[in-house]
Amino acid sequence: MAQLEIKNLHVCIGENEIIKGLDLVVGQGEIHALMGPNGSGKSTLAYALMGHPSYQVTAGDILFDGESLLEMAPDERSHLGMFLAFQYPVAIPGVTVANFLRTAINGHRQAKNPDDKGMPIPEFRKVLKEKMDLLQMDHGFAGRYLNDGFSGGEKKRAEILQMATLEPRIAILDETDSGLDIDALRTVAEGVNALQGPDLGVLVITHYQRLLNYIKPDYVHVMFSGMIVESGGPELALQLEEQGYDWIREKHGEANAVSAATGDS
Ligand SMILES: Nc1ncnc2c1ncn2[C@@H]1O[C@H](COP(=O)(O)OP(=O)(O)O)[C@@H](O)[C@H]1O
Ligand SMILES: [Mg+2]
Repeated sequence: MAQLEIKNLHVCIGENEIIKGLDLVVGQGEIHALMGPNGSGKSTLAYALMGHPSYQVTAGDILFDGESLLEMAPDERSHLGMFLAFQYPVAIPGVTVANFLRTAINGHRQAKNPDDKGMPIPEFRKVLKEKMDLLQMDHGFAGRYLNDGFSGGEKKRAEILQMATLEPRIAILDETDSGLDIDALRTVAEGVNALQGPDLGVLVITHYQRLLNYIKPDYVHVMFSGMIVESGGPELALQLEEQGYDWIREKHGEANAVSAATGDS
């Protein structure tokens, strides 16, 4: 069973250490929610998992099926079965959703077999149609230019469709905190629920407790100041819904305030 294993991870952006020793294991078949107040480092973790060059891993390791990802480029991580979704604001006028997905699928096929000639178009059409039906999407969506004039919800749809066609083993979905659009949230949740199964492990990153009204995570983790400070089941999300993050700050904030003060002196 494939699993993503994050071990004592430290990540710096320039001089600043943002992730300060994070441990997390996400197995295939499990849904994990990673929550936390703004600025706690959730997106930084997502970027580091993807292999973004601005995010330097200074200590620890990220393992996929026991193999370290640290020296791998983002596309190699993807070929292994990791899927990393972001709210890419990038529109690609002239490239349809269908063409984009076909290129992505063929990239994966060619990584496995350099002689692969690409998925035949009739087969691709069939796959795409099946996935769109699974996600209850209008088939016309495939003919639109990727993200060109898409709403927040439609960008999320494109992302979820990409996830459905690539069939990853571990998917990481970062809900940027600006995306408070409830439709976008629901799209992600419905997509994850439709794709859920023993072959897919999911790490959903969100500031937003409301997402968990739609997705039922097996595990909930709270990140604060670059570390996971609480882990539990769905009841932890309910507690956050009722009480917000203040108790997290009170319980875990003092040590950070002290170290910040020391750092300043
Ligand atoms: N590109 C960057 N350069 C410098 N600091 C950054 C950058 N991106 C994020 N940070 C800092 O890293 C911390 C964590 O940010 P982020 O990972 O976006 O948190 P979250 O996603 O939990 O809101 C914040 O203090 C933020 O200011
Ligand atoms: Mg974020």
